[in-house]
Amino acid sequence: MNQTEFIPESYTRSLETGKETWSSPSNIALVKYWGKKPNQIPENPSISFTLDYCRTTTSVAYELKEDTNNFSFELYLDGVLKPEFYEKITTFLERIEPYMPFLKQYHFKIETSNSFPHSSGIASSASGMSALAVCFMAMEKRLNPEMDEVFFTKKTSFLSRLGSGSACRSLEGDLVVWGAHADIEGSSDLYGVKFDGEVHDNFKNYQDTILLVDKGEKQVSSTVGHGLMHGHPFAERRFEQAHENISKLKSIFKSGDLKAFMALVESEALTLHAMMMTSMPYFILMKPNTLEIINKIWAYRNRTDIPVCFTLDAGANVHMLYPENHKLEVLDFVKTELVSHCQNGHFINDQVGFGAKKQ
Ligand code: PMV
Repeated sequence: MNQTEFIPESYTRSLETGKETWSSPSNIALVKYWGKKPNQIPENPSISFTLDYCRTTTSVAYELKEDTNNFSFELYLDGVLKPEFYEKITTFLERIEPYMPFLKQYHFKIETSNSFPHSSGIASSASGMSALAVCFMAMEKRLNPEMDEVFFTKKTSFLSRLGSGSACRSLEGDLVVWGAHADIEGSSDLYGVKFDGEVHDNFKNYQDTILLVDKGEKQVSSTVGHGLMHGHPFAERRFEQAHENISKLKSIFKSGDLKAFMALVESEALTLHAMMMTSMPYFILMKPNTLEIINKIWAYRNRTDIPVCFTLDAGANVHMLYPENHKLEVLDFVKTELVSHCQNGHFINDQVGFGAKKQ
């Protein structure tokens, strides 16, 4: 692993004031990241679909300041000053400063907003951290205009990872692998790489309808959750299984075998939750409505042969994944059978996307 490539030698330009605005999406893991080593190094490789609609738009306005001993910033979410986020942002700045030595020279005004409701229970850390990282990278590119696109994306992913592990999978699309894996050339524990294997048309424009079962605060933070894998009785086998599942997915993507895809993705989701149920302390993050929805998806699939499956994050919400050509029937199914299990009838239609965009 070589992190020194991300430490700039010097900058060719200087910069006094300016503003960068970018948006970056969330992503949904097919093979899950659960368990980490120090410095946000994953215990196992993961792969995700990048999403499109669920995204964070962030602008960072910067101005040179005199005191260069401390970080200085203010942060607004939807126009409202949010001091409660300062600790998280300061930790992020401390982690990335060795790779961005200019950070203490500026005061930053950070303005951020999400395309999805803040209270929806959807993890905003992947989109939020990657959107912030890409703004800082855009600034660094102004200091160093020779930087090429490939390095720009790679370093943005590297920095995003230091904010929130899964955020490093949000910069590009449509599929991103994070974590070293023998079958994925160029894969790394340090940053995400675009999956460069063959992908059957079945998986193009894949749809993700997110059924919001519980919009409350997360019962277990991801930091605590990852920590539960230390000393977990099934951890080692689980980490091996993630490697095996990525190899299997690679051939599934090539063949277009939707049945095998659905079996693997659902098994990954349930394994993630099984890890939580079998850790000490243990947690059940699914709610009765999560199970109602899963059972209805299975019954619908048996009845209609429509290839719709589910996956879960570390929470109660259900992501329903299906090919684009079944969109109309599936949305009809959502409205007639699933909406009643969603909190306030709330769901979000999303689909595969292609990463961060300059605004
Ligand atoms: O990026 P974190 O530390 O919030 O971890 C996310 C973990 C899962 O969402 C449960 C799985 C994944 O790979 O995204």
